[in-house]
Amino acid sequence: MDMSRRTVIAGAAATGIAAAGMGSAHATGGRKPVKSLFGKLADGTKVYSWALENGGTRLKVLSYGGIVQSLEVPDRRGRYANVSLGFDNIEDYVAKSPYFGALIGRYGNRIGKGRFTLDGKAHQLSVNDGENSLHGGAQGFDKRVWDIEPFTKGSDVGLYLYYTSVDGEMGYPGTLKTKVTYTLTRHGDWRIDYEATTDKATVVNLTSHVYWNLAGESSGTIYDHELSIAASRYTPVDSGLIPTGELARVWGTPFDFRRTKTVGEDIRVPHQQLLYGKGIDHNWVLDKGLTARPEHIATLRDPSSGRTLKIATTEPGLQFYSGNFLDGTLVGTGGTVYRQGDGLCLETQHFPDSPNKPSFPSTVLRPGQTYRTTTVHSFSA
Ligand code: GLA
Repeated sequence: MDMSRRTVIAGAAATGIAAAGMGSAHATGGRKPVKSLFGKLADGTKVYSWALENGGTRLKVLSYGGIVQSLEVPDRRGRYANVSLGFDNIEDYVAKSPYFGALIGRYGNRIGKGRFTLDGKAHQLSVNDGENSLHGGAQGFDKRVWDIEPFTKGSDVGLYLYYTSVDGEMGYPGTLKTKVTYTLTRHGDWRIDYEATTDKATVVNLTSHVYWNLAGESSGTIYDHELSIAASRYTPVDSGLIPTGELARVWGTPFDFRRTKTVGEDIRVPHQQLLYGKGIDHNWVLDKGLTARPEHIATLRDPSSGRTLKIATTEPGLQFYSGNFLDGTLVGTGGTVYRQGDGLCLETQHFPDSPNKPSFPSTVLRPGQTYRTTTVHSFSA
């Protein structure tokens, strides 16, 4: 049995589940999700942690923000590590989290000046990123307490997460009823199914903001990770990271990940877009487009551990953020300081500022329609 330091720090032992033995990384079965108290908010609201395991993947989810507090997978020798950045206490999540592991809504990414017009009516959103609205505004879905129901279905285990956002919350029209399903499959895949309905026309763009470090959080930067993204175009931005509207070719730019390269390879190229983002903080236009079923779009691999993450989605876009704003002021789950590039996000989504860009795929949801998107994270080593 593996008893590496990181496994113990991440609290895997607390779930009472033994680590997989050498070479049997994906041999464990699913168990009923286990609930425990994680902490309390200032107003006394209890925040719970739900521990799930299936197919060799171990997941801990908080009722606050639907946050993935820990996600452990084995390396090529069966040694587990927590591959997602986070905190070990609720206070830090509330006070200073840069969306670690969180569910993002109502609108993942930026809306220019926090303004949009829908059916002739102008809406002003909560502005929380310079003059723009980011990730749903000042009190987005990442800062809400979700109702959680566990399930086991066949060989799957998972959680249903529910949150109802009232009409006008953060400036968005319509009461939005949201249901997010986190499933761990018997293969150890983590699947997210997002659903939402509204009673007034509105805009929706839900995503997940896990910061990945496949060598293990607290192990240094992700610049040696190898990445491929199936996208020939991306959406260049202005200095406030709002898309210009152009779908630019990646060919000949640092944004070309069609063939696998390391994250660090071109990150210091003095390209205007990298200067704006302080690194990579851009939306890729996925070649497959919007699809009814999740299709493979990106592969991330840490050569040192062999851990590999494959992402499939129904969404047309992928925000790849290289952890540029991590500045050495946060102490992570493993007890070390997070610095720039210690984790990266791969946020499946519709494009930023779509409500103001008629040429982008629409993010409008109307009464009677159901918003549905799916993203699947598959792990191997
Ligand atoms: C997103 C944004 C980034 C940054 C992070 C959180 O990925 O695109 O610019 O705001 O969230 O720090």
